[in-house]
Order: sequence, then structure tokens, then C-alpha cells
Amino acid sequence: MSDTYAVIGNPIGHTKSPLIHGLFAKEAKQDMEYTAIEGPLEPENAFADTVRGFATAGGKGINITAPFKLKAFAMADERSERATLAGAANALKFEGGRIFAENFDGIGLLRDIEVNLGLPLKGKRVLILGAGGAVRGALLPFLDAGPAALVIANRHLDKAQNLVKEVGSPGPLSAHGYNELESMGRFDLVVNGTSASLTGDLPPVPPSVFSPDGTAYELAYGKRLTPFLRLARNAGIRGVADGVGMLVEQAAEAFEWWRGVRPQTRDVIDQLTVPLD
Ligand code: ATR
Repeated sequence: MSDTYAVIGNPIGHTKSPLIHGLFAKEAKQDMEYTAIEGPLEPENAFADTVRGFATAGGKGINITAPFKLKAFAMADERSERATLAGAANALKFEGGRIFAENFDGIGLLRDIEVNLGLPLKGKRVLILGAGGAVRGALLPFLDAGPAALVIANRHLDKAQNLVKEVGSPGPLSAHGYNELESMGRFDLVVNGTSASLTGDLPPVPPSVFSPDGTAYELAYGKRLTPFLRLARNAGIRGVADGVGMLVEQAAEAFEWWRGVRPQTRDVIDQLTVPLD
């Protein structure tokens, strides 16, 4: 029997994960099945019961998407450092009766930027918009990459400040309100880690943060030219990207964690890429 994996979320209809892992499995010659599960929102413990049921039935691992990343983290027996800082898990592994939690969102984002887009962050000035779950997951991998400045901007400044405090020894990391950005010069990379694009909104970022030969990166994917990417384009920026590469790279990290084999990502990203305009 094939090893079984799944992605669980609610809603789950639009997930690309079964397609991505199916392509990885074919290319890496892995005998595995990967399905999508619509997780129950109620009652409180129904999500954990569903995940445990999947593991008991022989499931080897599961990806977690909204709104279950915090619950998945909470039910684990062991958690990686980056999952702990994120306070959220996007992948679980079931081994020896124990549940291991990981969070590959941040490392997937970093790999997409450094490897696929060819933008090493060492010595660069990086601005991240937002201080929610998505940004939490990215902080440790981004700090490890050695940027000269890593600025977090959020509407609720205290949330960004708390994140910086939690990191402990922040180094180049600092928290600011959007109103301070105008006086902070240009950035080599601006990442929209807010959920504004999901509702077609624009975070209140001044165009002065964009550098003409810099990059603007939208975490959301498949939304074409979001208001944030449009603002970046209008500010004269050359490189704009959405989160499709991050999606595929985080999947590759989970695949390697589960299977011990690193899948190729380039062709999969090309297959899933929707032109921005
Ligand atoms: P996620 O897990 O997707 O990051 P979240 O934890 O709910 O979601 O966080 C959403 C983030 O998007 C927050 O940083 C939020 O800013 P506030 O903390 O100040 O509310 C940010 N956000 C959402 N809509 C926004 C908008 N229209 N403009 C700017 N920031 C926005």
C-alpha cells in the first residue's frame, strides 16, 4: 500500500497541494498518495480528532492550511524552533506514535526569493508589511539570511514590537508604524505579508519605500496584479512576484522532511504560474 499524506483546511476546494505533491512524487519516484481533507470547524476538538484519525489509519504526514495552523501546532508532541516562533505549524509528521510540527512557510519564501528570483538577502534592506502568522513564520529564516536591515511595519505597532521582542536578540530587526516609512529610505525587497490582498485592499505603504532595481513580493498567489504589486509597478519597480514560488518551495521542504528526497521545483512553479497581468 502507498504511504498516505494530505492537506487539511477549511475551505479546501482550491488547494494546489495535491497537484504539487503528485508532481513531486512522480518526478522523485515516490510511492505515495496525497489527498485533500476539509477539516471540521466545530466542535473545538474535532480538528485534532480528524488529524489523529488520519494518523491512526496509517497517514504519514499532513499539511495544514487556514484556519488550522495554530491548532496543529498546539496538538504536536514536538515542535521545531521556527514553528515555535511562528506559534503555528504548516506540516505535521507522524512517527513512532508521536506528532512532530514544522513550519516551512518562511523557509519556502526565503528559498523562492534567494534561489528562484536570484536575490540573496545578505546585506540587503528588507521591509516586511504585516505582523500576523505569515510574517512570524518568515522571521527566523530571514534573519539567518543576514540582511543589513529587516523592518517590520504594521498598522497595530504593538503587534510588530512584540514580535521583535520575542526574537530576543533582534540584530537588524526593528518594528515601525506605516507613518514612519516615508523617512526610512528605499528597500531592496518589500514583502507584503498582510492579508490585505485577500480583500483587494492596499496596506498604507508609501511608494518611497520601493527601489527601482528592487523587488516587490506578494505572499498571496493567483490574485494577479494586487493593489500592492500595482503600487510597486507604478513606483517604477522592475521585479514583482507573487507567492506561487513560495507555495511550491514550502511543499518541497515538507516533501523532503517526510520522504528524505528533495524534489525539483522549477517545472512545478512554471506549471502553476499565472501571469500577473
Ligand atoms: P495571517 O496569518 O494571514 O498573517 P493574521 O494573523 O490575521 O493573518 O494577520 C493579518 C495581518 O495583515 C496583520 O498584520 C494585519 O495588520 P494589523 O495587525 O494591524 O491588523 C494585516 N492587515 C490586514 N488587512 C490590512 C490592511 N488593509 N492594511 C494593512 N494591514 C492589514
